[in-house]
Amino acid sequence: MVKAVVLGAAGGIGQPLSLLLKANPLITGLGLFDIVNTPGVAADLSHISTPAKVVGYLPPDDGLKKVLTNADVVVIPAGVPRKPGVRISYDLFKINAGIVRDLATGIATAAPKAFILVISNPVNSTVPIVAEVLKKHGVFDPKRLFGVTTLDVVRASTFVAEILGDLSLSKSVAVPVVGGHSGVTIVPLLSQSSHPLPANLTTDQYEALVKRIQFGGDEVVKAKDGAGSATLSMAYAGAEFAAKLIRAIGGEKGVSAPTFVNLSADPSGGEALKKELGQDLDYFSTVVELGPEGVAKINTLGSLTDAETALVKAAIPELATNIQTGVSFIASPK
Ligand code: NAD
Ligand code: LMR
Repeated sequence: MVKAVVLGAAGGIGQPLSLLLKANPLITGLGLFDIVNTPGVAADLSHISTPAKVVGYLPPDDGLKKVLTNADVVVIPAGVPRKPGVRISYDLFKINAGIVRDLATGIATAAPKAFILVISNPVNSTVPIVAEVLKKHGVFDPKRLFGVTTLDVVRASTFVAEILGDLSLSKSVAVPVVGGHSGVTIVPLLSQSSHPLPANLTTDQYEALVKRIQFGGDEVVKAKDGAGSATLSMAYAGAEFAAKLIRAIGGEKGVSAPTFVNLSADPSGGEALKKELGQDLDYFSTVVELGPEGVAKINTLGSLTDAETALVKAAIPELATNIQTGVSFIASPK
């Protein structure tokens, strides 16, 4: 019995994500919350012949508390998306930080033991915001909080399969993407791809591939031309990550995925990874082994090429700033 809840369920990501969660046979309850339209979305999804019982709530009459009651997994895609010219870590933060803080407060009181999957941007800052809110309420368990970076992984698989000339490989191509979720903080470890890149790939082609994975979001924002950012691919990615987590908390062994986590979730405090990074970061995205309690083990980066080492190094300053921005928003609000 797994109850999944989507906060921001009527939005561009929220609706297709809710559809994909409704299609997951392991989910038996699906709660939808948004400031608009959830009764309609819930009624629509409730006609689909899969096990999940669907309920939809709006803010009045304690809707957030009601939707979160007995939640096992809470996915948060609430917040504003980018338009051309809008910066994730600054412009979006200004609006989304408060939205995520308020939703996290609801979770801290109504579902303190839920696994929380944060999609709202900027992920590098919104995950620390959720953690700080949970800490304030004395209910923070780092093993249960995840920043969803799966879209970067999905893009890496697709773009590598394209370069290999066979899109049918994209489901099986696995590339660890580490760091964070925005621009240069996104670091694809292409040397560790399950399917090696062509031996004749030039340095220019390699660099273009890295850039495309790092700035894949821009490609969609530009193509949508003012109508928002990635929604359908994000819904797919979010549902994939949620499905993995649900399988792991249900007892399946050997489930792992890159995700942005607080390094204290690791049994050894992430010390080996911090040593590898040469930096005492509190959060980082890397391959995480998942288990019944959420994070079971946070993997180190493994062996990197010189180019990848340089990418990791370049990611760290921006990542550290983004994390601090999120922490300060709660710990020392202006
Ligand atoms: P959208 O505007 O289409 O949908 C957002 C939804 O959130 C809307 O339905 C809105 O009503 C709702 N909402 C706003 N305030 C709320 C509140 N206080 N409580 C509940 N719901 C609230 O936007 P979208 O395209 O779905 O994107 C949502 C977020 O996801 C953005 O911040 C975007 O940048 C981010 N995103 C993240 C990734 C990722 O890889 N992590 C990928 C794509 C988009
Ligand atoms: C993405 O990677 O597509 C999202 O983070 C949305 C964005 O604004 O880039």
